[in-house]
Order: sequence, then C-alpha cells, then structure tokens
Amino acid sequence: MKKITILTLFKDVVANATNFSILKKAKANKKVKINVVDFRLFSKNKHKKVDDTPYGGGAGMVLSLQPIVDAIKAYTTKNSHVVLLSPQGKKFNQTTAKQYAKSKKDLVLICGHYEGFDQRIINYVDEVISIGDYVLTGGELPAAIITDAVVRLLNGVITKQSLNDESFENNLLDYDNYTKPLNFQNYSVPKILLSGNHKLIKEFRQKNKITKTKKQRPDLFSKYAKTKK
Ligand code: ADE
Repeated sequence: MKKITILTLFKDVVANATNFSILKKAKANKKVKINVVDFRLFSKNKHKKVDDTPYGGGAGMVLSLQPIVDAIKAYTTKNSHVVLLSPQGKKFNQTTAKQYAKSKKDLVLICGHYEGFDQRIINYVDEVISIGDYVLTGGELPAAIITDAVVRLLNGVITKQSLNDESFENNLLDYDNYTKPLNFQNYSVPKILLSGNHKLIKEFRQKNKITKTKKQRPDLFSKYAKTKK
C-alpha cells in the first residue's frame, strides 16, 4: 500500500482536504494510507515554539530546523522520498504525479509556513517542489493537491480508461463532454456524438483535443507537435 505522510502545523486543513470523494474511497479500500502529523509536537522548546526571527533581520518569522528535522527522522526510513513544499521548488505536473504514484512507495510532504524555512532544511530532504508560480500562506493546500493528483493514479483507484482519456496524456487537453438534455436554451450538442459511429466520434474527439490545446495551451501544443514530427 502507498503511504503518504504530511508534516504540517495545520493538521485539520490537510486532513479535511485529503478525506473526500475518491481520496476517501481510496483510503477505505486500502490503496493508500495518509498520515497527517503536527510537527509542533516535536518542538523541544518549552512553549512548543517552531519559529524564530531571521538572522540578518527582515520581516516575519522563519521555521526552525529542530522540530522539522526530528519529525522527518521519526517518520522516514531510507526508502522514503522526502519533499519540501515551497514556491521556490521545481514545478509539479502530471509527469511528477505519475512518477510519485509509480515509484515512491513512501512519500513524505513537508508544509512550510510563515516566511519559510531555515535554508539548511535542504540537507534533510530529497526534493523541493512548488505547485505553481504564486505564493500561498503555507504548504498545506499544495500537499493536499499533490496527494490528490497522486492517489487518483494508483492502481485500482479509478479506471484505466478514465486515466487514458484525461488531460495531459500525450501533451493534449481532454476532449469536450456533453450530457442530456440535447438542447439547453440556445445551446445544442455536436451532432456527430449522436451518430453512433464510434470511429467518427473518436476522430472528432481527437481533433477537438488538438484544436483546444493549440488555443488554450500553446506551450503544451508545441510539445505535442514535436512528438508528432
Ligand atoms: N508554499 C507557499 N506557496 C507554495 C507553492 N506555490 N507551492 C508549494 N508550496 C508553497
């Protein structure tokens, strides 16, 4: 079973954000064990302090090494893959999600807060990961996002067909979907989807994926175009 451990100061946020829908079902079906740990418990300070003022001065507080490093030590083995969440990390994408789902059996995600970590933390982690070019108040939502993206890719969590058709497979976005009613106000459904001709429908959807990717995500489209050369 896949194990994901999340070290955080805001346990409730992470626990709630990783306990609904497919994630909840995956946990119940023993596809994943999600362990949310409050690293404040590891603080050796008598007031359970986890941060301090930055050397050299400047705004805000910096997370101290001791509680996090002790929490890492308590929750990892040599087989763990330890990821620090920070806007300064390498950008997370579907390829990283697949790699984590496939080959990182024991994933440990560390959520920062305040002005960030004491830089020496990088000596205790395998990788620094960002979920995108924006700054959040902490790593809690990024940890939940990564957990969600990884868990849905685990064997037996959702069908292979769903995974094959979805966005980012072969550097294309997913095709457009429609359901009943056939006409809604002035909007109708592409006629070809009613034809019952599976070959034509498949071609139509493939064309739709390409046109849409070219328009919405030219960066992704150029990757797709390269693989077609
Ligand atoms: N913590 C704050 N912002 C973040 C981001 N964009 N990605 C990962 N962790 C973060």
